[in-house]
Amino acid sequence: MDKAKRASDTPIAVEVEAGKAYFWCACGLSQVQPFCDGSHQDTGYSPLRYDANESGKVFFCGCKASSNAPLCDGSHNN
Ligand code: FES
Ligand code: FES
Repeated sequence: MDKAKRASDTPIAVEVEAGKAYFWCACGLSQVQPFCDGSHQDTGYSPLRYDANESGKVFFCGCKASSNAPLCDGSHNN
């Protein structure tokens, strides 16, 4: 797999909890977007860890094209 699958055309908002770690799906194949469900096996992709420093809403990248992954940087508009 040489290109991540575009899982969503928009970012995915998640209420994160301070002190918790989240594993963002980089391959786009997970059924529990924006997070990894293990579907990346054999794709060459691996999840990206996100450590929440504070509680609140975070916009994770769903298009998988962000240059600031795992967060949305607006690249989904391109
Ligand atoms: Fe990927 Fe916004 S959803 S950059
Ligand atoms: Fe996509 Fe794990 S399922 S990185």
